[in-house]
Amino acid sequence: MAVTLVIGAQWGDEGKGRVVDFLSRGASVVARFGGGSNAGHTVRVGDKTYKLRIVPSGVVAGVEHCIIGPGTVVSPAALVAELDTLEFNGVDTSRVWVSDLAHLILPYHIEMDKAAERERGEDALGTTGNGIGPAYVDRVARTGLRAGDLLDLRRLRHALFARTHELRARGIALDLDATVADLARQAERIVPHVRDTIALLHEQLRAGRNVLAEGAQGSLLDVTFGTYPYVTSSVTVAGGACAGLGFGPKEVDAVVGVVKAYQTRVGGGPFPTELQDHDGAELRKRGAEFGVVTGRPRRCGWLDLVALRYAVQINGITHIALTKLDVLDTFYQLSVCTSYEDAGDASLPFAIARGARPVYESVPGWLKTTVSAHAFEDLPYNAREYISFIERHVGVPVSYVSIGPERSQMIVRPGAPVAVAASAR
Ligand code: IMP
Repeated sequence: MAVTLVIGAQWGDEGKGRVVDFLSRGASVVARFGGGSNAGHTVRVGDKTYKLRIVPSGVVAGVEHCIIGPGTVVSPAALVAELDTLEFNGVDTSRVWVSDLAHLILPYHIEMDKAAERERGEDALGTTGNGIGPAYVDRVARTGLRAGDLLDLRRLRHALFARTHELRARGIALDLDATVADLARQAERIVPHVRDTIALLHEQLRAGRNVLAEGAQGSLLDVTFGTYPYVTSSVTVAGGACAGLGFGPKEVDAVVGVVKAYQTRVGGGPFPTELQDHDGAELRKRGAEFGVVTGRPRRCGWLDLVALRYAVQINGITHIALTKLDVLDTFYQLSVCTSYEDAGDASLPFAIARGARPVYESVPGWLKTTVSAHAFEDLPYNAREYISFIERHVGVPVSYVSIGPERSQMIVRPGAPVAVAASAR
């Protein structure tokens, strides 16, 4: 077998964590390829809820190797806290590996992130405040530090010293001794996890094992293809998995696009199908749409199939995992955006930024509970029709349907990738 990619097809928060957890049981490696602890991936098992930030979601299912890849940015403080919390909750983290090439998020990146947001005033992007942007800026500016640098604290101190002047000029007073002392403490905990993850990944691929690449955020937050500048600073689309983990495109077997049955967005930026009315409030309440990382209420709206068709193209999505279908159980009628008015011939991000208006088709609701369905055939007729409607409009099969947060609340349809997952229920 080879690599299955799991990526978010909307603005993040699609439920990638629970899909990765589900598919993990057929994989020997789960690897994060981009982003940092701005992500909040939730996995629920029985009465326990795990909130993963940078550690791959496969850790909960006990996957053999969980890789935090070269394309990620890692806050040592946040990683230590996450490893400790997982261990405290009985999750074995001994096989969580951090690429020595992953860049470090240091406290001054967080300061810079917050200062930049303050300066933007009303035009703030609504970042998660985790220092993601400034850490990626340092990476491309070639001034960053990497996880491998934690192995040589003398060199690391030297590199930090070289930056003090420039940071001071930007209003950031770096306390070198205190920063190095903190990093030394964190290094003790992290260094045993730091390794060449590229060699490990290829060893597993050569042995014919299944690898799951876990995306973070969503396609519409991608730094190039998203609704710029209201995006994150990493590559969130499927192509980012190759560049963020170090393997070639021919290894990829399937690209699973995770799609919420409606649309949400957290932070600033345009959102064509946003609902400011009772339906929006109902989606937020029923879907518990509050950010895992920041607790912010998420903006909610109807499913946008124009944006989804775009996500299918830019990612090469082969299968859809449709999540939170049950949230729609109480709606008498649903609207789905199938085209934009006034879109011109600009690319989708520019069309959205210029105020393209959604054109809706109405679809009847089902007004029945779906949470205990075990097979596609158990779903109410109108729920099945809603799924067929999506498939017809985007040309990709909906291979997984989740109707609740439990592992058992996932319907797997014929042809779904990672065969082992189907028998793992
Ligand atoms: P940053 O990634 O913290 O720089 O935030 C940039 C934008 O991406 C903001 O609009 C955030 O709300 C959004 N964002 C970042 N991570 C996530 C996520 O995991 N889910 C949803 N939105 C996110």
